[in-house]
Amino acid sequence: MSLSSKVLYDQFVRKLEAKWRLEESKKIAEIVFDHLFEISRIDIFLNKSVSQLEEQLAPILKRLLKGEPVQYILNNAPFFGLSFFVNPDVLIPRQETEELVALILKENDHGYKNTLDIGTGSGNIALALHAQRPKWELTGWDLSPQALEIAKINANQLNLNVNFACLDILNKDPDMDQYHVIISNPPYIPSSEKSLMAGHVVDHEPELALFVADDHPLIFYDAIASYALKSLKKQGKLYFEIHEDFAYQIQTLLSHLGFKGIVIHQDLNKKARMASAVRA
Ligand SMILES: C[S@@+](CC[C@H](N)C(=O)[O-])C[C@H]1O[C@@H](n2cnc3c(N)ncnc32)[C@H](O)[C@@H]1O
Repeated sequence: MSLSSKVLYDQFVRKLEAKWRLEESKKIAEIVFDHLFEISRIDIFLNKSVSQLEEQLAPILKRLLKGEPVQYILNNAPFFGLSFFVNPDVLIPRQETEELVALILKENDHGYKNTLDIGTGSGNIALALHAQRPKWELTGWDLSPQALEIAKINANQLNLNVNFACLDILNKDPDMDQYHVIISNPPYIPSSEKSLMAGHVVDHEPELALFVADDHPLIFYDAIASYALKSLKKQGKLYFEIHEDFAYQIQTLLSHLGFKGIVIHQDLNKKARMASAVRA
């Protein structure tokens, strides 16, 4: 039986509105229709006819209304033009982190660079960089073996080569003068902010990826910057994604450690969300 995609889409959006505002409901519906049925916004606009979609949509709707993120339901998240397998073992790649990748690409040319991504999760940063900079040698570390399994699945699916390893950055001795570039988007949300956050994040995404103790929110920045100070080559660059509330403290921390050329970068929303520094 052939059905109107516009009618199905409108019905789906209306049901989603029980939980989300209209714009968010439309966005989620578009992701589902595009990924599952390969029907784009334009196809819906043109009212392309579809067959047997209703039964497939029902279980997805049920999970969405329970608050599960659409990316985990579809096991898919886009990042920097690539398609990543995701499940609740990894953080869902964020748009802000695409801006960090864009900054690194803007500031670093195509020539060989030994590059390390600390807290790699799904491997999104390391794999996106390797897709754009094939000559770079990429390594990705994470404490979570489950996350690393996902990162390896993504490397295989994308046919990109990153050396992944299971490692605790809070207990890592430096590797002297190894890397041209070190990047990290570490856990940085103080536990006390948990109660202010959306249920779909707190209830479904991995705690290990998100939270730090209230009394030591910069623990990862401190450990990673100290590691990087010795492990970067001279003139090597360190890049962080940061919490806007801690921009000043991170700048001070990097300066006290002896980094030069420290810059706090604003994202598209004019928030201080990235830091970069150079090993003198
Ligand atoms: C904010 S997530 C970033 C994930 C991914 N790089 C991204 O940008 O979307 C932080 C990552 O750090 C990892 N992590 C947490 N504690 C760690 C530790 N002590 N050593 C290494 N990685 C750690 C988490 O498992 C998680 O994958």
